[in-house]
Amino acid sequence: MQAIRSRDSIDAGSMKILGISAHYHDSAAALIIDGMPVCAVQEERLSRRKNDAAFPLLAIEWCLQHAGLEPDDLDAVVFYERPMLKFDRILTCALRAFPRSWQTFPEAMKSSLGEKVWVRGTISSYLGVPSRKILFTRHHQSHAAAAFLAAPTDRAAILTTDGVGEWATLTVGHGTRGTNGGTTITLPREVRFPHSLGMLYSAFTAYLGFAINEDEYKVMGLAGYGRPTVVDKVRRLIRQTADGAFALDLDYFEFHSTARRSYSSRFVDLFGPPRLAYEPIDLSSADGQRFADCAASVQCVLEDTLVTLARSLHEETGLSDLCLGGGVALNGLANARILAESGFTRVFVPPAPGDAGCALGAALYADRIHFGSPDRDIPDHPFWGPSVDGMELARIASEDGHPVDRCEDEDVLIGQTADDLAAGRVVGWMDGALELGPRALGHRSILASAAGTEMRDRLNREVKFRDEFRPFAPVVPIEAADRYFEIPAGGARLARFMSAVFRVRPEWRAALGAITHVDGTTRLQALDREMSPRLYALLQAYGQRTGVPVLLNTSFNLSGEPIVNRAVEGYSTFLRCGIDVLVAGQTRVTKKTSEVSRE
Ligand SMILES: [Fe+2]
Repeated sequence: MQAIRSRDSIDAGSMKILGISAHYHDSAAALIIDGMPVCAVQEERLSRRKNDAAFPLLAIEWCLQHAGLEPDDLDAVVFYERPMLKFDRILTCALRAFPRSWQTFPEAMKSSLGEKVWVRGTISSYLGVPSRKILFTRHHQSHAAAAFLAAPTDRAAILTTDGVGEWATLTVGHGTRGTNGGTTITLPREVRFPHSLGMLYSAFTAYLGFAINEDEYKVMGLAGYGRPTVVDKVRRLIRQTADGAFALDLDYFEFHSTARRSYSSRFVDLFGPPRLAYEPIDLSSADGQRFADCAASVQCVLEDTLVTLARSLHEETGLSDLCLGGGVALNGLANARILAESGFTRVFVPPAPGDAGCALGAALYADRIHFGSPDRDIPDHPFWGPSVDGMELARIASEDGHPVDRCEDEDVLIGQTADDLAAGRVVGWMDGALELGPRALGHRSILASAAGTEMRDRLNREVKFRDEFRPFAPVVPIEAADRYFEIPAGGARLARFMSAVFRVRPEWRAALGAITHVDGTTRLQALDREMSPRLYALLQAYGQRTGVPVLLNTSFNLSGEPIVNRAVEGYSTFLRCGIDVLVAGQTRVTKKTSEVSRE
């Protein structure tokens, strides 16, 4: 990390540090005071532009306002990567690919010069903070810090994997937390661009007709319908190197030389014609099955590669805990296999392992490692964003003439909502502070009965307007999780933030048809009461009514939109889809009789 001029001049006891991630995808800001996160939010949740990569002015403004601070009050502003190193990578790759890159080179230069390189000036001019207060971490240091410093472990091996940061695409190392300072994160080895597991997976994401950096989870969902019949072909694209890492055969890719296409014509020769984005996937057709088999095969190779890396990291460090960071750590199938096969007994994945979480990671890295502040235990939840205002919902819905209940008695509200769910109604559920990260973990969720495939089909058709092959996820009280799901030792921890895919017990697959994927698996959330007491109470009340305390829990957004933040966004979504009931805080809104399309 770049040194500031006078670290002694800062009073470590009241340090206020703002972390920022921006300019790639999922911009975010996070604020820590006295070593503790105070708030964090993704720009997309405020700007309402999905995966907003712009400099996160709205997020920064909200963080400062939330904490009652002026930019002047900040002791440091930390950007989550080193722009000049990133520029170096873009420049080097463009020159290596010349003359093939000559058309894209000016575009890369323009965007890099315009935004990425002059980050210090951007921060300084937007926030009015002196340049000496602006620090930079390395991209994978931010991922590692987000994964390790917020996890409930004192010593752990660390593995970070993503598409690319500056040059690194994967790092391995370990961390130690020190109560009297002395916290360390050591990442002695890395794999460098263009060799990248994230880019390999993204090339298949593009080949299968999905959006890169956004739809990788659709590839994972599609994999459940396929068989890994072309693993040998995928292995031609990636080979293990003598040092236990990996290298891509670049003849099959183009992402390193042009922004226009991820894979080359040789890739197409190997796997056949790509899927066009607007073509539906017909799994009963030969092409549909070929695409599903491709997804299953790249998923298998990704898992094998990560398990091999994690296993050798375990042997090398002798540690029992592993922290996973980077966007690839969103792959729940891979995480489950790492837990099962690498030798680590506990595996931690933060709720926001991707670049949004880097805002928090960068701030924590600066605090613990650059400034040497004492370690603090960080609350083990993802709820760092704006809180929902139930009164706001009551006001808007009343003005529109919708039936509104203001219910001050918590038990009554929970009971009513459980009745709704037991009667097959779909509930939009907004509670407290917004999650950081891509998963709805109980504060901005669409909830529904998990019984029967009809609910899955109804949600796909009337609520989420999305591809049918994508599974929904369940939420269950942690104490009851084992009854319905095959959770291995250490698995409950991964299920805390929906970070792993486990098997639904065979005897429950039919009864939990809405959340059981075609291959019998699901990405469950095992909920601790202390993390989200209201949702926990709702699960119990629902369990009392139906005998099974398992609800379908999907993110509260429509396809192509960010997860809702404020009550007004929840209300707007409620109006535009088949959600029957909307609950925000103590307010419960139902549709007008004329709007209810089905009973
Ligand atoms: Fe990243």
